[in-house]
Amino acid sequence: MANFLEIIIFILPAYIANSIPVVLGGGMPLDLEKKFSDGRRIFGNGKTMRGFLSGILGGTVTGGILAIAYPISYFSSIEMQFIASFALALGTMIGDAFGSFIKRRMGIESGRQFFLDTVMFIVLAMIFAYPFVIVNNAYTIENIVIIVLMTIIIHPLTNIFANRIGLKNVPW
Ligand code: CTP
Ligand code: MG
Repeated sequence: MANFLEIIIFILPAYIANSIPVVLGGGMPLDLEKKFSDGRRIFGNGKTMRGFLSGILGGTVTGGILAIAYPISYFSSIEMQFIASFALALGTMIGDAFGSFIKRRMGIESGRQFFLDTVMFIVLAMIFAYPFVIVNNAYTIENIVIIVLMTIIIHPLTNIFANRIGLKNVPW
């Protein structure tokens, strides 16, 4: 049986990393305003250095606190859980930027809605954390399906919420 509390504690660093840039992002774009060979921006103004770094830091710190407060069975030690939080946060921010890269190549403007916004970050986060988990505990088919479905539900809801409280201009 899937343990929902463990799943949520496991994936929280990725969700925090994905959310923090909305609040702390801004300033110099990650692509330094440079264009790709197709003449469009590499990532665009929606991906900033401050957002990228604050996401990694926020996710890692959250994961570190959780590792001490709630060690979970997916990891062999508290240290592993902490390292995996960093991997989840890094994977999240790389996945987020990679999603933007694909959007720009397809000619989709910054800030426009696209299904990769919801899934790319969580897929990359899980791939990055893979080396640090006890695989047959954490990455069961059941857990993977729950994490992806949960993200598909929670991601749009947090964006609607962020829009309502004035953090985002758009509800996605
Ligand atoms: N943000 C940031 N740095 C990042 C990621 C996000 O500063 N690495 C901030 C930006 O202010 C961005 C907001 O968070 O506008 C929302 O992020 P997101 O929806 O991921 O970006 P979009 O603006 O929609 O751009 P894109 O189309 O490239 O996804
Ligand atoms: Mg967006």
